[in-house]
Amino acid sequence: MKQKLLVEVEGIAKHFVIKQKLFAPKTVIKAVDEVSFGIYSGETLGLIGESGSGKTTVGNLILRLLECDQGKITFAGQDITHLPQRSLRGLRKDIQVIFQHSQETLDPKMTILELLVEPLKLHHIVAPHQFEREVKQLLNMVGLGEGEKHKFPFQLSGGQNQRVGIARAIASRPRFIVCDEPVSALDVSIQGQILNLLLDLKQEMQLTYLFISHDLKVVKYLCDRIAVMHHGKVVEIGENSQVISAPTDPYTRELVNSLL
Ligand SMILES: Nc1ncnc2c1ncn2[C@@H]1O[C@H](COP(=O)(O)OP(=O)(O)OP(=O)(O)O)[C@@H](O)[C@H]1O
Ligand SMILES: [Mg+2]
Repeated sequence: MKQKLLVEVEGIAKHFVIKQKLFAPKTVIKAVDEVSFGIYSGETLGLIGESGSGKTTVGNLILRLLECDQGKITFAGQDITHLPQRSLRGLRKDIQVIFQHSQETLDPKMTILELLVEPLKLHHIVAPHQFEREVKQLLNMVGLGEGEKHKFPFQLSGGQNQRVGIARAIASRPRFIVCDEPVSALDVSIQGQILNLLLDLKQEMQLTYLFISHDLKVVKYLCDRIAVMHHGKVVEIGENSQVISAPTDPYTRELVNSLL
């Protein structure tokens, strides 16, 4: 069976111009430099590379949190590269994100119940009288007890807050999630639980993931294919086993040797 591409990026670029001192010359950082790849429906594509190689910038471009300087991004057959702000809400329902530090993205003044009702309201997922029932189901899906819903983020552990972040991401019933280092800030003992939760949810909700990580072990465990970034470029992309056991690019070989 021929697989269908859900996400396609073609020659995308993002350059940042920075000026550190008043009379200093400008420096251009090619954070993402003509990157192209596709993500098939239902797959988990790992995006790895050293710190500063451009992984988060790629994710933010796909999420339309940043604008591309050049190139094209297609989602489910639609060119979303320059989709105007007013059309972005529809896209936000389908494309979600899980960040490394969920707690920082959660409003500390809101209870877990309020934090989970917010996306349900925003994207008109269910009628208001069904909010409580839907929240109960979301909590259940991410392995949190119903008793947690009246708590505030500071009253939960790092792992529990990450589960809240995941619940908010799946609340809109998305098709695609950018997971940007979702377990890097967690204790090793908790990492496995969250990774398995992401795998279960993917199955249950037929999700597609872009999984950004600098941890090759995690990517090896979770991803179908792996793309390797180096200085803003994708230097290698292929099946998980092929990239890890028979890398063709010298930088990937170095990365595999140092991390595994
Ligand atoms: N808003 C910005 N302004 C200026 N430079 C930026 C900005 N965002 C990112 N950069 C630079 O772009 C490059 C790529 O950054 P990016 O955050 O995408 O890397 P990364 O691979 O996600 O790194 P990490 O593994 O540390 O998260 C880096 O050199 C970074 O300093
Ligand atoms: Mg990053």
